[in-house]
Amino acid sequence: MTIRKVAVCGAGGTMGAGIALVSARAGFETCCFDLAAEPLAAAAVRAESFFAASVERGKMSAAERNAALARLTNTSNLADLEDADLVIEAVFEELSLKRSLFSELNDICKASTVFASNTSTLSITEIASGCGREDKVVGMHFCLPAERMKLIEMSRGMNTSEAAFQSAWAWTETAGQLAVETQDKPGFILNALLVPFNNDVLRAVEAGLASPADIDKAITVALSYKMGPCSLLDLVGYDTQILLCEAFYPVTLDVRASAPALLRRMVAAGRLGNKNGLGLRTHDAAADSVPTPVFELLEHGASRSFPDPGMLEQHGQADADVVVHLGGGFAADERKLAVLVELDLECLGVHTGEDSGEEGSNVVGFSRYRNGDDMPSNLIELVRQPKTSPEAVAAAKALFESLGFAVAVCLDMPGRIVDRLVRPKYNAALRFLDEGLASAEAMDTTCKMGLGYADGPIERVVRGGLARHYDICSNLYATTGQTGYVPARRAHVAHQREKQQWGR
Ligand SMILES: NC(=O)c1ccc[n+]([C@@H]2O[C@H](COP(=O)([O-])OP(=O)(O)OC[C@H]3O[C@@H](n4cnc5c(N)ncnc54)[C@H](O)[C@@H]3O)[C@@H](O)[C@H]2O)c1
Repeated sequence: MTIRKVAVCGAGGTMGAGIALVSARAGFETCCFDLAAEPLAAAAVRAESFFAASVERGKMSAAERNAALARLTNTSNLADLEDADLVIEAVFEELSLKRSLFSELNDICKASTVFASNTSTLSITEIASGCGREDKVVGMHFCLPAERMKLIEMSRGMNTSEAAFQSAWAWTETAGQLAVETQDKPGFILNALLVPFNNDVLRAVEAGLASPADIDKAITVALSYKMGPCSLLDLVGYDTQILLCEAFYPVTLDVRASAPALLRRMVAAGRLGNKNGLGLRTHDAAADSVPTPVFELLEHGASRSFPDPGMLEQHGQADADVVVHLGGGFAADERKLAVLVELDLECLGVHTGEDSGEEGSNVVGFSRYRNGDDMPSNLIELVRQPKTSPEAVAAAKALFESLGFAVAVCLDMPGRIVDRLVRPKYNAALRFLDEGLASAEAMDTTCKMGLGYADGPIERVVRGGLARHYDICSNLYATTGQTGYVPARRAHVAHQREKQQWGR
């Protein structure tokens, strides 16, 4: 069925108002429905200023703006939706509310009208259940802000007809959006990957792994994400994150989706993120700057961090106050300000020893993050033990920063910052691929277009090497016991094939 007229329910809300803009901009008569006139009036003001800005940026002419605005009509009377070909609901995230809305609309709309839900966490099948036209209900999950983000995750309920799904799909394309197909499973692709990842970040903060600022720096520099996860959590809001956990955990029983203790405490304490100025990143401590130290370079073998050590060699000086050991070798020297030892996957304690939480000296670990055989990134993870000399850490930081690197400091914990946080996400994506949630391309596109990642989880883990992913995850699982690190089946297969090939 060809869609000509669209209705948006909840059009006075954050998502509904944006969806109405997408529809009107693309040339569809768009009826905006909400419970009262006030939210609709506010959305109309938003529409005026959005289209005015589009004209200013040269994206549309003044005549096109006028035509788009003229296509938007407001109503608080549900009966006015009778001639809509497509109804997109973006009302509150409550199953009973969405169900009763579709039931009422079933009596009002034409038999051919397709109903779409923008739900983030509910099941399309459950929303459709009992509405009277289960075959015409589809999932259309827009991203925030809808008028700027092209991605729409499209899903079918168990009873959705192919014709209804294809009509909705064709509409998204005509509307200039990018549709990806996913199954009707909790969180579709985007939230299924993001919600547990954000919880992992909160658990890492709670464990004292690194400051939120350093976690954001590590993730944005090593993985080229547009926004660090702590900043993203501040933006999403901790009250919203806890609602997402409460929606996902009972359905998936995935411990990573359960609300971390820190999240519960933050919400109880009224720390909701940017919306009230109380988040993880609102009180970043200012870093002290220290003079750049002179360093001596000692090379013991091939280096993963600096496969071409030339840039270090040209700055190195004999007998300096700071010693940099490349290639894993190491000798303690208490007379130095700092002794830096390159780490691969191992903890710093493997080199220095550990004693009941009191460990620490002038020895600092470092590793330049690298995905498989990709060029090493610009991120240096500096590893300290509980009692490592702050002067040694500051000197190591100043040294690498003077060479142009971004430096993130973390405690001596398995996986440091990046692998600890990103590997469970790769395992989840690989498992979703096996379970048919979506194709590799759909998952990668969703992460790039919906979350601003430079590359998607599947392309990245495959490029980095599934066998190496297996090694890293096995190590992390052995040291943490956390199930998120259990290597995904595809990583096992890669590991076994490598074993066969090399007899290792
Ligand atoms: N906010 C996001 O980042 C985001 C992203 C993607 C999807 N979603 C989903 O979009 C939906 C809306 O979320 P939101 O953040 O825009 O919420 P919101 O609170 O900003 O807006 C909801 C709107 O729905 C209206 N409403 C409530 N009951 C209604 C009814 N019976 N009939 C008509 N209008 C009604 C409210 O008046 C309000 O204007 C939810 O299902 C949410 O999960 C949200």
